Amino acid sequence: MTRIAERLSAVKPSASMAASQAAKDLAATGVDVIDLGLGEPDFAAPAHITEAAFVTARSGRMLYTASLGTPELRRAIAAKFKKENGLDYAIDEIAVANGAKQIIFNALMATVNEGDEAILPAPYFVSYPEMVKLLGGVPVEPACTADKGFRLTPEVLEAAITPRTKWLFLNLPGNPTGATYDAAQLRALGEVLRRHPQVFILSDEIYEHIIFDDRAFVSFGRACPELRDRTLVVNGVSKAYAMTGWRVGYAAGPKDLIKAMATVQSQSCTSVCTVAQAAAQAALEGPQDEVSRFRIAFERRRNVVTQAVNRVPGLTLDAPEGAFYAYIGCAAYIGSRTPDGQVIADDQDFTRYLLAQAHVAAVPGAAYGLSPFFRISTATSEEVLIEAIRRIAAAVARLQTR
Ligand SMILES: Cc1ncc(COP(=O)(O)O)c(C=O)c1O
Repeated sequence: MTRIAERLSAVKPSASMAASQAAKDLAATGVDVIDLGLGEPDFAAPAHITEAAFVTARSGRMLYTASLGTPELRRAIAAKFKKENGLDYAIDEIAVANGAKQIIFNALMATVNEGDEAILPAPYFVSYPEMVKLLGGVPVEPACTADKGFRLTPEVLEAAITPRTKWLFLNLPGNPTGATYDAAQLRALGEVLRRHPQVFILSDEIYEHIIFDDRAFVSFGRACPELRDRTLVVNGVSKAYAMTGWRVGYAAGPKDLIKAMATVQSQSCTSVCTVAQAAAQAALEGPQDEVSRFRIAFERRRNVVTQAVNRVPGLTLDAPEGAFYAYIGCAAYIGSRTPDGQVIADDQDFTRYLLAQAHVAAVPGAAYGLSPFFRISTATSEEVLIEAIRRIAAAVARLQTR
């Protein structure tokens, strides 16, 4: 008997937060730990953003706003979708929430009935399946393997769809692998989806600006305009503008869905903090040069990490196409033995070993639905990344493989 609601029994806390907490606990004992668990940019948000927040706070007009967000912010979001993604949305087709996470939660809360299925191509962002389960849905997790570039293919999508499918989640570029999709790949998925009108598509494009090797980012909405009536394009300021703590995410979608999400929001948090909305508006409307500076730094780090990891025997990593993570294969070490005789049975044992022996915190692939891998965040300095991989290399060299 527990006094906590049953719906929580199958829901896990965030694995990346757990990895980070384990790192903090170890650091509190005096150990020099490198925490590559959580994914947040290590840059300061551009100064004009913080300034806009100060101006709003000083105005004294700190009142509730419309649940969907201030009209000014939604106009800025509509202009961003038009300019950057070639998408036309009216402001009543746009929602603002406390982070992309709350946008996704509101969308699921507004649509998922008990037993409805959500297709989450694995590996996926850790929160997707937990939110689906929390709201009574069933995550369906087709494996999207490294040999397919961690991308969902039309065949795998077709096989995963059932009459109960309510949602397909896409994440481009993706957390944890960085894999992204070009227009032709998205259109091929769109062709399958056209045959299944019961399926909504959630395209999480929060890493849109962190994309490498001169790839052009194509929004799912742009590639498949004929699916507009069941597509929710999700984005936010957390990653592009180094604004994770401001908690502003947004989405564009069909009016009935956005209206239902507004109802969820109005009965839960009312609206997003007024100051944070002003900051997000300044981010979207202001100069964008810092965004490309961040992108260039992330690409350099991606290069450093890919080279360093591929020099470590038994670890595998194809250069991530975007985002700021490396999803590293560690199959060669599953079944190996630590110096004190313990067996590394899976990637969770592997990351536990890395924390204990290399003092590097990473997140096991099990959390993302595809093993054996581990994820490190590359949103830290090149020096720290090089030191972390040096430590990982030294630790795995002490493992006895068969
Ligand atoms: C794929 C993906 N979507 C959404 C989020 C959450 O973004 P926000 O800070 O806007 O809630 C993250 C954060 O790690 C993410 O990786």
